[in-house]
Amino acid sequence: MNYDQKILAYDLIIFGAKGDLSKRKLLPALYQLEKSCKLHKNTRIIGVGRANWDKKKYRQIVKIDIINFSNEKINLDIWNKFSKKLLFCNIDVNNTSSFIKLQKIINQDRKILINYFAMPQHTFQALCKGLKKFKLNLSKDRVILEKPLGNSLKSSKKINIQISKLFKENKIFRIDHYLGKETILNLLSLKFSNSIFFTNWSNKTIDHIQITISEEVGIEGRLSYFEETGQMRDMVQNHLLQILSIIAMSPPINLKSNNIRNEKLKILKSLRTIDIKNINTHTIRGQYKSGVLNNITVPSYIEEIGIKKYSNTETFVAIKVNIDNWKWYGVPFYLRTGKRLQKKYSEIVIYFKPVTMNLFSKYSHNLPLNKIIIRLQPNEGIDIFITNKIPGLDSKYMLKEIKLNFDYKKTFKNLRICDAYERLLLDSFLGLQSLFVSRDEIEVSWKWVDSIIHAWKSSKSKLEFYKAGTLGPQSSDYLLKKDGKYWNNL
Ligand code: BG6
Repeated sequence: MNYDQKILAYDLIIFGAKGDLSKRKLLPALYQLEKSCKLHKNTRIIGVGRANWDKKKYRQIVKIDIINFSNEKINLDIWNKFSKKLLFCNIDVNNTSSFIKLQKIINQDRKILINYFAMPQHTFQALCKGLKKFKLNLSKDRVILEKPLGNSLKSSKKINIQISKLFKENKIFRIDHYLGKETILNLLSLKFSNSIFFTNWSNKTIDHIQITISEEVGIEGRLSYFEETGQMRDMVQNHLLQILSIIAMSPPINLKSNNIRNEKLKILKSLRTIDIKNINTHTIRGQYKSGVLNNITVPSYIEEIGIKKYSNTETFVAIKVNIDNWKWYGVPFYLRTGKRLQKKYSEIVIYFKPVTMNLFSKYSHNLPLNKIIIRLQPNEGIDIFITNKIPGLDSKYMLKEIKLNFDYKKTFKNLRICDAYERLLLDSFLGLQSLFVSRDEIEVSWKWVDSIIHAWKSSKSKLEFYKAGTLGPQSSDYLLKKDGKYWNNL
């Protein structure tokens, strides 16, 4: 299956239609798919929630959401076409018998169903019960699951078992929205279609790799969720480990979903365990204090959650990761992510080993390491740093580090970078699973993360505090410094 296949008609059911995800991401993304002619004219989008709305009211509300959350002016012709697809069904998901209303709508014109669970995971059991009772999970039907899936290996297994009773693995689409980002998708092309990279992508040439996801936002009102979750479960278990596995994976035999996912899985299985023995040398955890961000004083994490005097939840994590396989043995991967940091940006930095001998030592004592910076967001692009001779007669071999720069916006001037959810929804319609996380990947990631969280608890590791608006706790610099390395800061 590929992007050339015919677009079919589906019924997309959004459980959690009144929620933030649906308003901010899903509906604006679906509107864009309409604009790009990627929705069949008979496709229906059925919002499910607890509200006395009819389709007219729902359409009014969605129109406002699209106006508010799209980066462009709404096009009324497209909107008119799109709005006809929208229906609403008032259901209390805890009341299984109320699913009969949904069944009635579906059976007016039974197509393949795509059930989107945009609701907290504790509702999944009730959702499954309703779907099963009213036969909304026929063998061709699909389910899309939003993260988080569990908060430990045990709880994620429980969810996976529950869902697998209704849907086969090839009908389950587990979202990690980072996988839908254009720049993440490009990692495969970058690595596997350029021999200069492909032949230099291993411990033979690479010194170390840094992956940073730095956020300006705090916890945005998600008090109890974040207090239970922390940055490790919120960002590392999914987004960072997924990026790491794509960066490190070997070429799949082709682009079929299972082959890509199996290569990522091999990496996740090769991560060296971090436990009580190496927790202090390999991880840093921090929490933000009040500080100034974009000229505004923002409260500390504790003030933001407003419940306790003390919380042990981390809002910043830095980890030194080792991959124990032939290709990556000896190459540290440093991951860091935090909330309320100085700038919102995500990037991967690949540092190459030095040349074996410095022929130019008379002119430049230390040659800088070649590095590639992959800017995932914002200002999407790639910078390659090389050493070059400064032109002129003053010195024969005066060298300088220079930057070769590729910028998406300049190179692809007339092309829009689509939102991750547009691609993910489209792929789920097409039945393509490569950008979704397999059950095995999720479970192996949780196993690795559980060990770290367990070690933090049993070693009573202390939180390091950092001021909002900074780069995180200072100790995160030491994590690299003791290996003779430094974070690439903006
Ligand atoms: C989500 C996390 O998965 O990703 C949020 O739950 C986080 O806490 C968000 O802020 C970051 O996504 P993006 O696309 O803005 O980098």
